[in-house]
Amino acid sequence: MSETKKHQTTTVKIATTARLRGDFQIPGDKSISHRSAMFAAIGQGQSHLLNYSSARDCQSTLDCLEALGVSVTREPGRITVYGVGLNGLRQSEKMLDVGNSGSTIRMLSGILAGQPFTTEITGDESIQRRPMKRIIDPLSLMGAQIEAREGNFAPLRITGGNLHAIEYTPPMASAQVKSCTLLAGLFTDGKTTVIEKTPTRNHTEVMMRETGAAIEIETTEHGERISITGRQPLRPLGEYTVAGDLSSAAFFIVAALISSDAQIRLRHIGVNPSRIALVDVLKQIGAQIEIENPRLAHGEPVADIFVQSSELQGDLELSGAVIANLIDEIPILAVAATQLNGTLTIRDARELRVKESDRIRAIVGNLRLMGIEVEEFDDGLRLRGKQQLRGAQVESFDDHRIAMAFAVAGLIAAGETEISGAEAASVSLPEFYQLLQNSGAAIG
Ligand code: S3P
Repeated sequence: MSETKKHQTTTVKIATTARLRGDFQIPGDKSISHRSAMFAAIGQGQSHLLNYSSARDCQSTLDCLEALGVSVTREPGRITVYGVGLNGLRQSEKMLDVGNSGSTIRMLSGILAGQPFTTEITGDESIQRRPMKRIIDPLSLMGAQIEAREGNFAPLRITGGNLHAIEYTPPMASAQVKSCTLLAGLFTDGKTTVIEKTPTRNHTEVMMRETGAAIEIETTEHGERISITGRQPLRPLGEYTVAGDLSSAAFFIVAALISSDAQIRLRHIGVNPSRIALVDVLKQIGAQIEIENPRLAHGEPVADIFVQSSELQGDLELSGAVIANLIDEIPILAVAATQLNGTLTIRDARELRVKESDRIRAIVGNLRLMGIEVEEFDDGLRLRGKQQLRGAQVESFDDHRIAMAFAVAGLIAAGETEISGAEAASVSLPEFYQLLQNSGAAIG
């Protein structure tokens, strides 16, 4: 790695690599880690979080909880959170900083809305561009006072307390909005219901069950009704091992599939059905992926995943409900599709434009720099496979998943690929380049 260009921008160079071998664990799931820290903080008693994500985002969640008066001890592989119960958080003396973490600001705001004090919360430039009206709306309906720049952007100033239960149907498929509303529901006297027309990741619901929260889930013709009755004390999580992150595993899964001589086994990965669509979709086009030793850990399905080099064949047209289930994996799926004997079409993925970067623009721009013909839609993209990637200088757009997706593209590109802003990977997987290099990738 070398430090070049702007302030603290790291460039990583990747050369063509045919052979990959690996058998390793991926650090804990980012979505589950955030939730485990938040539930541990408002639970009654100590929780020990093992395999907690090393992601910078998940450290931001711990920092924010500490600023709210929660004691946290951080030992390698083991985070202890001393839960303060539903009513034990204290006003922070400083503005909370979530860094790059959308999950932290959106979900923690649900908890903050339930507190009888005012909190200011913000994050980096990317966070300050991302829409927050989607959480301000339900929380305001519940009675929280929230000020935001232009009514939509961080910094947020949240004055909470005295919330009332609501029934709410989020206008977009978003696990963060669902979770924010359900977390706020813990601080009301009544029953708060979120109606999900399109199912999204259900880690909050699983963890509510684990902590003994009064959650009910009902499937109706209008979608899933998820209800939480508030003011019930939460049990601590105890010794809780976070499942490995499938969204991070996805980069190694695709790296193995598209490399000509690869075998990789990833251990203890979360395979919750609401997260696994990427694997299902890849299997449809001939990916050799085996889910081994499926088991349940703290209500979350986990398994080992074995992947080998594969010929990818067939057309993929992805739209509608499946999009929410693989939204974070679309950058790496697009890279896989360059090797597909067929065409990938993605629609209904407009949400990608308001992620850590405008991911449709970032994917399309970088693929074009690497010599790939790709069509851009307002809500997706289309590309025909069997195109030769050419090594090029590409950008991370300060987006972890773009950096990692294009590092994987570099493995099969002719010539060297340079990723500028490569350090963004540490937002979700600081070990990424090391793990890829340990698997045999030529990285400098
Ligand atoms: C997440 C939900 C998704 C996802 C994000 C993590 C979560 O965001 O993209 O990486 O942990 O709930 P949205 O809720 O905005 O879809």
